[in-house]
Amino acid sequence: MTALDRVLELLDPVPAEPDTSRGHLDLLGEVPRPHDTIAQRLMRSGALPKIYEHVWRPVLFGLSKGGPLGPSTAEEYTLARDWLGLAGTPGATVLDVACGPGNVTRALASGVTGGGLVVGIDASATMLGRAVADTPDRGADDSADIGYVRGDAVHLPFRDGSFDAVCCFGGLYLFDDPWTAMAGMARVLKPGGRLVLLTTRRPALPLIGDGAGALSGLAGIRMFGSSEISEALAARGFTAICRRSYGLMQFAGATLT
Ligand SMILES: C[S@@+](CC[C@H](N)C(=O)[O-])C[C@H]1O[C@@H](n2cnc3c(N)ncnc32)[C@H](O)[C@@H]1O
Repeated sequence: MTALDRVLELLDPVPAEPDTSRGHLDLLGEVPRPHDTIAQRLMRSGALPKIYEHVWRPVLFGLSKGGPLGPSTAEEYTLARDWLGLAGTPGATVLDVACGPGNVTRALASGVTGGGLVVGIDASATMLGRAVADTPDRGADDSADIGYVRGDAVHLPFRDGSFDAVCCFGGLYLFDDPWTAMAGMARVLKPGGRLVLLTTRRPALPLIGDGAGALSGLAGIRMFGSSEISEALAARGFTAICRRSYGLMQFAGATLT
């Protein structure tokens, strides 16, 4: 059974004729998106995926996390694996929402043992092209299978309670409806499953916060208030919520009751 066969078993509804011709499962086809924001258009471009992982992300996320004051990319990935408890969940099924070129997906898979499965979902065909190209075929060893889906993170196409863990790094602030997306993450988690998010944080000082919010809003990036994410998680049934803030970014982790 391939990784995509395993992913198909988690879908709801299961497509009658699944399109896997580009190495990922495509649930969106050719949909026109006339109202995309500047940020969304960039994510769908052919150019960004080529430089995203090694140039764009380290520079922009690095600055947003407060430069040397914030965690490195490697530390971010360790935090995700730790907060999701992957080491203690052999055979875990993990969802990486807004997976882009699969950088976080592969980092999560490196923490999953015992025949687990890591599924990356993203709406951008160009990002997923890169993800497939950069993800080596898995051998018949102990490491996790990795499968990619082209789909909408706001309306997750998976069965209820399919995943032990869900990660969404660098995605929530781009979604047109982040709260429906968060409710979907809760829905696809098993009871006791864990969620980890990396998203934006609006500075507390009103003038700076309003300025940053207005500027980022023009590009289609939402800035979340310091307690907005924790409160939204609690309202959707999450407990044991922890949060760490660095510059304009915040990490949040939580467990579904
Ligand atoms: C900044 S990248 C994040 C990649 C990776 N998770 C990381 O942390 O580096 C954001 C990704 O979100 C995806 N995205 C934005 N809106 C989406 C949606 N509604 N459904 C699925 N993916 C979406 C974009 O296509 C893009 O690949």
